[in-house]
Amino acid sequence: MKIFLDTADLDEIRRAADAGLIDGITTNPSLIAKVAGDRDPKEIYLEICEIVDGPVSLEVVGVDRETMVTEGRKLAAIHENAVVKVPLTEDGLKACRDLVSEGFKVNVTLCFSVSQALLAAKAGATYVSPFVGRIDDISGEGMDLIHQIRQVYDNYGYETEILAASIRHPVHVVEAMQIGADCCTIPPKVLWQLSKHPLTDRGLESFLADWEKLGAEI
Ligand code: G3P
Repeated sequence: MKIFLDTADLDEIRRAADAGLIDGITTNPSLIAKVAGDRDPKEIYLEICEIVDGPVSLEVVGVDRETMVTEGRKLAAIHENAVVKVPLTEDGLKACRDLVSEGFKVNVTLCFSVSQALLAAKAGATYVSPFVGRIDDISGEGMDLIHQIRQVYDNYGYETEILAASIRHPVHVVEAMQIGADCCTIPPKVLWQLSKHPLTDRGLESFLADWEKLGAEI
């Protein structure tokens, strides 16, 4: 499963890229608003693309087909790794088809149902982003959606990749892997939580204490 980092925070992106742990980045307008300050978001997008050698999703903010396509072309021109992110609306699906026909990669975001995911695949999306955590937030079962989309895409051989998004904790990541999501986009905090285990800490502590007694060097 591909791991994307769900952030526009350059320090966090450098940290994860330096560890060689991530395959790409996803951003959205809320994530860029958290870090941009006075900077032009497009500059930050370019920096992200230069740090990470993999797909970087950059989201349009227009709501009609024509504006989305115009913005999509501009975002795609920032870097060859840019993936245009469009919302799962009627206009977003049309813009997806237009942009894909022009040779761009498209991530259709804000997916909350299997029927929406079906249309994203029909529109030729490279990725579809079902928002697991936000479904859990309203007492639904976000992972059921990943499961259902996997089943439908496999039934009909759709090549759109399932990009599990709105990930809140490590169990979401493990379940997405078990179900067979193609990618999972993870906030930095959750990425590092994946590496933690109390028995690892305890084991390391006792190994180091025992070695210390030897008074030796490697
Ligand atoms: O990138 C979109 C998605 O991952 C947003 O997550 O936590 O705002 O629901 P969240």
